[in-house]
Amino acid sequence: MSHNTFGHLFRVTTWGESHGIALGCVIDGCPPNIRFSEMEIQSFLDKRRPGQSRFVTQRREPDQVRVLSGVILDDDQETMITTGTPISLMIENVDQRSKDYSDIARRYRPGHADYTYDAKYGIRDFRGGGRSSARETAARVAAGAIARKVMPDLSVRGALVSMGIKSVDRDRWNWGEVDKNDFFCPDAESVPVFTEYLDGVRKAGSSVGAVIEIVAEGVPAGLGAPIYAKLDQDIASNLMSINAVKGVEIGNGFEAARLTGEANADEMRMGNDGSPLFLSNHAGGVLGGISNGAPVVARFAVKPTSSILNPRKSIDADGNEIDVVTKGRHDPCVGIRAVPIGEAMMACTLADHYLRHRGQTGRV
Ligand SMILES: Cc1cc2nc3c(=O)[nH]c(=O)nc-3n(C[C@H](O)[C@H](O)[C@H](O)COP(=O)(O)O)c2cc1C
Repeated sequence: MSHNTFGHLFRVTTWGESHGIALGCVIDGCPPNIRFSEMEIQSFLDKRRPGQSRFVTQRREPDQVRVLSGVILDDDQETMITTGTPISLMIENVDQRSKDYSDIARRYRPGHADYTYDAKYGIRDFRGGGRSSARETAARVAAGAIARKVMPDLSVRGALVSMGIKSVDRDRWNWGEVDKNDFFCPDAESVPVFTEYLDGVRKAGSSVGAVIEIVAEGVPAGLGAPIYAKLDQDIASNLMSINAVKGVEIGNGFEAARLTGEANADEMRMGNDGSPLFLSNHAGGVLGGISNGAPVVARFAVKPTSSILNPRKSIDADGNEIDVVTKGRHDPCVGIRAVPIGEAMMACTLADHYLRHRGQTGRV
């Protein structure tokens, strides 16, 4: 299976399967002298970790990260300093229950990747979905924690803005709420609404989708390239690479098609600090593939979890028509845990473009 790497200068290769011994990543191209601690990586992994509420899978994984290479310890014996050599990060799998999946060894779960993996490779690791499982995204979150350090003063935050047919009220958006509830929801009044809604979905053995918004602040003007390495193109590609993501928008996204030119254009004035000021941010911080200094804003749509308790029509590898009921432990809304994954993919993309910009222009 090729194509396990993304990025050009900040280059991340992930490895490992859902029920293998461990998973991880190798980051090649991280600049030297970046300081971080294992605890900092762990704090992001803890946001994505399963088993933390009744709204996510009950698989119990501590997701303890180990940094295997690419760093030396500072005098405090905690702070790690990158040496510019490949950084290898590893997370062990400890709570595999592969027998839950023996039923699907030759059966194709509708909406999952079982059939297409068989069609492509003629063999697949069916235990927990193997490489098609979002377990792989733990490695991306670990890489993202280091990526956040590459560009000075970068802040990348994510929030869940809708779940199924329920949406937050953007006028009540408060970043301070995001880490206080089970949904990464920025609107406190939507939390009980989401809770009741998702409880109903979960008890019915079903699942729902979600939309997640990622906002990156502190991105200087100039990152990206005009044609085949547009910043928005690479953000979209990397967000789209997350399991179950079916759509990505930058700035106004699809809504822009409904606006007039006057409403959609971000008018400019000179700011008090002598730098340009955009009076709105419909563009989501990117113009002509290049960042304009405003916050970079992306949204992505996550489909409902395909593994559901209710039977669905399918076929098996021998061509028999069957009904599939998925055993095992699953998230009723995978969009919740997709929030830290989206943040990580945005951070990796920006780190990569920051280094590419510095490499080509010598400017930062
Ligand atoms: C955080 C997260 C957790 C996921 N957990 C599950 C799961 O428990 N069951 C499931 O069927 N799909 C789950 N998925 C989605 C599948 O991995 C994905 O649908 C599958 O690989 C097929 O790929 P596609 O949906 O991108 O076409 C999860 C996705 C994410 C982002």
